[in-house]
Amino acid sequence: MRDFTIDNLTEIVLEEYGSKTKDPRFRQIITSLLEHLHAFVKDVELTEEEWFKAIMFLTDTGKMCDDKRQEFILLSDVLGVSMLVDAINHPKSGRGTESTVLGPFYVAHAPEYENGASIIKQDQGGEVALVQGKVTDPDGDPIAGAKLDVWQTAANGSYDVQDPTMPEYNMRGIFTTDTEGNYAFVTEKPLSYSVPTDGTVGVLLNASGRHAMRPAHIHFIVSADGYESLTTHVFSAGDEYLDSDAVFATKSSLIGDYKESNDTDKAAQYNISAPFSHLRFDMGLMPVGAG
Ligand code: BEZ
Ligand code: FE
Repeated sequence: MRDFTIDNLTEIVLEEYGSKTKDPRFRQIITSLLEHLHAFVKDVELTEEEWFKAIMFLTDTGKMCDDKRQEFILLSDVLGVSMLVDAINHPKSGRGTESTVLGPFYVAHAPEYENGASIIKQDQGGEVALVQGKVTDPDGDPIAGAKLDVWQTAANGSYDVQDPTMPEYNMRGIFTTDTEGNYAFVTEKPLSYSVPTDGTVGVLLNASGRHAMRPAHIHFIVSADGYESLTTHVFSAGDEYLDSDAVFATKSSLIGDYKESNDTDKAAQYNISAPFSHLRFDMGLMPVGAG
């Protein structure tokens, strides 16, 4: 029988997985993962204590997860892995709006609203903002009937799912573009906020000397028949964390400039008072299969 040694173990493990794994894509993934994992363990000469600490870190990460909290997505985000996956799957093409991370706070089945409605279910005293724009195809033609799933933190820096005092679906809504591709909703101008630090990700950020802040943003998932679904944000121009997002998700093409508006007609149309903060953010979708 063979003795397993530091010199032959990686090769034997790779041979075992490489020769027995049937699905070709899974074989590629598992053998590459094992190769890198073994190389890492050898490179840092992992101690038994460190190995066990890593096991407990992952165990605790799993224990933080439930239907409202996804510490593993957060971990992937702060390690830059989510953005790497995003960059590989949505390379910058110069056409269509750029994508960015989904984040752990998306909740499906938000209420569907008429264009122009407010997503504020509980007033947190933030600055009222009107967000509007047009969804178009690569030729600039409007896409009617596109769905925009929108979510953001309230003015206290929390998502509804993080704060039991907030009503369900506070600061979330689904809007549908009109025949001209236009959408509009009323919200509070978002503020920069901290990703949750009460779990294992907080321990990691702290040990690495990194801050936990994300620049202010609104999330969107935009979908329409025949088009690639777009997961993105609009970040707020001038935010102090644009250059140091805890999850590496900023892109300059996604920065929107909120302008103070005194347009009283518009204010009346959207049932808000002037002056208000006004953001225009147009988005482009790519047809399915257009690369
Ligand atoms: C968010 O923007 O909701 C988010 C994204 C990544 C990690 C944590 C929060
Ligand atoms: Fe967010």
